[in-house]
Amino acid sequence: MFSTRRSIRKYKDLQIEKEKIDTIIENTLFSPTSKNRRPWEFIIVQDRENIEAISKVREMGSSFLNGAPCVMLVIGDPNASEIWIEDTSIAAYAIQLAAHEQGLGTCWVQIRLREHSGDLTASEYLKEKFGIPGHMEVACAIGIGYPDEEKAPHELTNELHAKVHHERY
Ligand SMILES: Cc1cc2nc3c(=O)[nH]c(=O)nc-3n(C[C@H](O)[C@H](O)[C@H](O)COP(=O)(O)O)c2cc1C
Repeated sequence: MFSTRRSIRKYKDLQIEKEKIDTIIENTLFSPTSKNRRPWEFIIVQDRENIEAISKVREMGSSFLNGAPCVMLVIGDPNASEIWIEDTSIAAYAIQLAAHEQGLGTCWVQIRLREHSGDLTASEYLKEKFGIPGHMEVACAIGIGYPDEEKAPHELTNELHAKVHHERY
């Protein structure tokens, strides 16, 4: 399952079955978190206009979301844990793996530390549009849908293996 996952940015014009959405999010809720604080929340977005609004969150790197039948916003609560970045990242990857297991393609769109335009951050733009409390941060948006592009798995090259050390660096 890990080796065949790729970022998919083109999706078929097909809705995702409710059971699959439920399975993805239920799997994600089992994600490990520091001190089991679970400092995350999620918004499952399937309304066309809302998805279009998310696709405009950044000048570059997010427009493909407009073709996705579903986008999940991964939101962190810095007041609940100082480790929220790690915890939301694990949850976002859980969404990707659970979706892949369901035959769906996904792609992560970075929100944290990205700009919308001028002096508005990408997170602020989404918080305003989706009624997210001010103290929270949108970490990323995950586009999900039936893949409409084929990508070969990455190869386990010598260069990749060279990143792994045994016992000492
Ligand atoms: C933290 C993170 C941020 C990313 N941000 C974006 C993004 O904003 N837009 C995008 O199209 N892809 C984004 N990606 C997807 C990466 O470009 C992709 O994972 C990488 O090129 C490797 O390709 P693969 O996922 O097919 O293995 C992001 C991935 C990660 C893990």
